Amino acid sequence: MVDPIKIEIDGRELEAKPGQMIIEVADDAGIYIPRFCYHKELSIAANCRMCLVEVEKAPKPMPACATPVGNGMKIHTASKQAVEAQKGTMEFLLINHPLDCPICDQGGECPLQDQALGYGKDVSRFTEKKRVVDDKDIGPLIATEMTRCIHCTCCVRFGQEIAGIMELGALGRGEDMKIGTYLSNSVDSEVSGNVIDLCPVGALTSKPYRFTARSWELVNHASISPHDCVGSNINVQSIRNVVKRVLPRENEQTNGSWLSDRDRYSYEGIHSEDRLQSPMIKQKGEWKQTDWQTALEFAANGIKENIARNGANQFGTLVAPTSTLEEFYLAQKLTRGLGSGNVDHRLRWADFSDDESAPLFPAAETKISDFDKLQAVVLIGSNIRKEQPLLALRLRKAYRNGAKIVAINTLDYEFNFTLHGKQIVAPSALSYAFARFAVALGEVKNRPVPDDIRNWAGNPEYISDALKDMAAPFAEAGDKAAIVLGAGAHSNADATIVRVIAQWISCCTRAGLNILPDANSAAGWIAGCLPHRGPANAKASVKGKNAAQMVSERLKSYLLFGVEPELDCLNSYRASNAMIDAEFVVSVTPFAGNAKQYSDVLLPMGTFAETSGSYVNANGLLQSTTGCIPPVGDARPGWKILRVLANRLDVAGFDYMSSEDCANEVNCDTSPPSCQPSEWRLPELVKKSKSRSQDLERINDVPLYRTDALVRRATALQQTSDNTPPQLMANPEDLSATEYIEGKAVNVRVNGLAVTLPLYADKRVPLGCAYIPSGTCVTAPLGEAGEVRIEAIDAAATANGDSLT
Ligand code: SF4
Ligand code: SF4
Ligand code: FES
Repeated sequence: MVDPIKIEIDGRELEAKPGQMIIEVADDAGIYIPRFCYHKELSIAANCRMCLVEVEKAPKPMPACATPVGNGMKIHTASKQAVEAQKGTMEFLLINHPLDCPICDQGGECPLQDQALGYGKDVSRFTEKKRVVDDKDIGPLIATEMTRCIHCTCCVRFGQEIAGIMELGALGRGEDMKIGTYLSNSVDSEVSGNVIDLCPVGALTSKPYRFTARSWELVNHASISPHDCVGSNINVQSIRNVVKRVLPRENEQTNGSWLSDRDRYSYEGIHSEDRLQSPMIKQKGEWKQTDWQTALEFAANGIKENIARNGANQFGTLVAPTSTLEEFYLAQKLTRGLGSGNVDHRLRWADFSDDESAPLFPAAETKISDFDKLQAVVLIGSNIRKEQPLLALRLRKAYRNGAKIVAINTLDYEFNFTLHGKQIVAPSALSYAFARFAVALGEVKNRPVPDDIRNWAGNPEYISDALKDMAAPFAEAGDKAAIVLGAGAHSNADATIVRVIAQWISCCTRAGLNILPDANSAAGWIAGCLPHRGPANAKASVKGKNAAQMVSERLKSYLLFGVEPELDCLNSYRASNAMIDAEFVVSVTPFAGNAKQYSDVLLPMGTFAETSGSYVNANGLLQSTTGCIPPVGDARPGWKILRVLANRLDVAGFDYMSSEDCANEVNCDTSPPSCQPSEWRLPELVKKSKSRSQDLERINDVPLYRTDALVRRATALQQTSDNTPPQLMANPEDLSATEYIEGKAVNVRVNGLAVTLPLYADKRVPLGCAYIPSGTCVTAPLGEAGEVRIEAIDAAATANGDSLT
């Protein structure tokens, strides 16, 4: 235990830790020191000099952000010397600053404006021409006004240190110094919007928000972002019931100081032109707008008649993973109240064979706030940078502190950290590669590996030195290690095997097992929105079909809650056909989208910002919010729609007055389940040899900005480079036997279904595979994973059925 250092700031005696800077101690004590370039999460640049303070016995004013405390130090933040120094800095900063506050989006929340008021002079002594810097177009998310830049380099340091992208940089020196993009014209990071918050002036502002409101007009609402399993805390800011922007709300347990661009900009979808404004029903093939009473009666009668005709087991409910805990709960209660157990929200899962033994919910054992303290991490089927951008930032911090991160993936994803080792394999080989990693770990750690896992790994010769090198960091890291299963592991056909192996490694090494749930899926599990169990792990009153079975077995009627089956379901082809063939489909949805093609009733629902509800993050953190704005048009909060629909369907127990009433009824423990030793037996049903054909194997993931209905309608996000038009990518070696033209359209067949896509060679794709994204309208007709055949598109080749692969 190191003795604290005693210092004095403005006459107050304070204790500090050795190595702390004056500004940190002052901040902790609530003593204000002006600053522009200091941020507690960034390295110290000390280039703005605004934080100069008087330190007794020092020959000149010292920057508080870069001066470590010393025992007995006496500091004055507002003495004559300190204030003169601060005023001098301010005068210097304003020499070239345009001070165009009336047309600056930063106005009203601008540190420079505020500090110019406190430390600036009324009249400038500078009469020369001010410097002018050309603006840059750095993409659809960030607007620039570079003449306002004061060269604090916060944006540059954020890119280099936090995000791991060298996109913004300082070029030139002194008067000629400019902040610009090094490599390209756009900033393409998935967390780029944070530079807007960091920029102390109006040089970097939000492009979608630009000139649409003044900061003092905005009404602030605390909320939770629904898009990933972090449960980011956000401030939703609106003006006259229109959401204008979303900003991070600091919470070290979740998002820290940062926000992903998906969380920041998805609000644009709330006011999309595609919003469903009023209930609609289809009669004699014609759609017509109607009132809520008529629509709900129409929906209830349709469901009742269908169940009477076909039986309750021909009715199924699919729920979007972004739904709230209350919506999940009511959806399953309504479905079960009708006598059906067919309810699920795991729309992208492929393997449900461990349903019975699964824990309360897929959880992250490693605390989100501890991800940056890890020493060894293995990513399985995880493009964590795009799936959970804020967890990736924490992993980058861990990497900068020396963590060894390895990946077993189906595509050689670009991360914002360098991998210590990787295995890039076809989806059908993911579980084998992971089993080999487990065997290598057992050997490195000198621990017996269960026979099933060893058998699954295959020939002992497969346990290469490279694998042992990947496994080695886990032998020592103890609970500072983590296994991270991402979306590619959940949608893998052998997902259960992957989960069992991950459990064994976790128990063998004490590594945290992190089965990262999709969006608010943890709440879906807890609320019993599953076919095999009820709320809080209770025995299901009626067992039913899972999401995949519901679409492959084509039920007679469906309730879709926030789901666009053609984009959200793993097998988009089967899902949309199941809806088209169904006799009656009720869509509770914020958006019209394609729902008119297969629905019979459309009930307009509010988005996350228009409803109260609860979210459970990967660590089991339960967070509840109220609505930020009233629902758009005639839309209603989802939980209210389910409540009234259930009443119309004569399902008992739906007399809730508020969403809290629903949440209270779930009454469950959200603490994350921990790894339980089991017999480590792999499920029998997957022990089959796989037949391989000459066709390519499809790699199938959902691009960052195609993950849910709201994000898909966020205009600016759709214009980023993360949303390039769908394309097919294959390994150059697989294409070498034939002539192909980079970017030229080809026919792509998966399991006999065809679309046309541009073809690109990409070394990141493993041999024998073809990457085709899903979650897009273009690729929706292809269904799920399968064998891919690429055919030339020209008439002659097509007539001959020529295959390029
Ligand atoms: Fe005014 Fe601040 Fe904008 Fe400069 S950055 S023009 S001081 S509001
Ligand atoms: Fe600082 Fe903003 Fe200039 Fe970047 S653009 S250096 S954050 S003032
Ligand atoms: Fe200390 Fe900028 S805040 S020099």
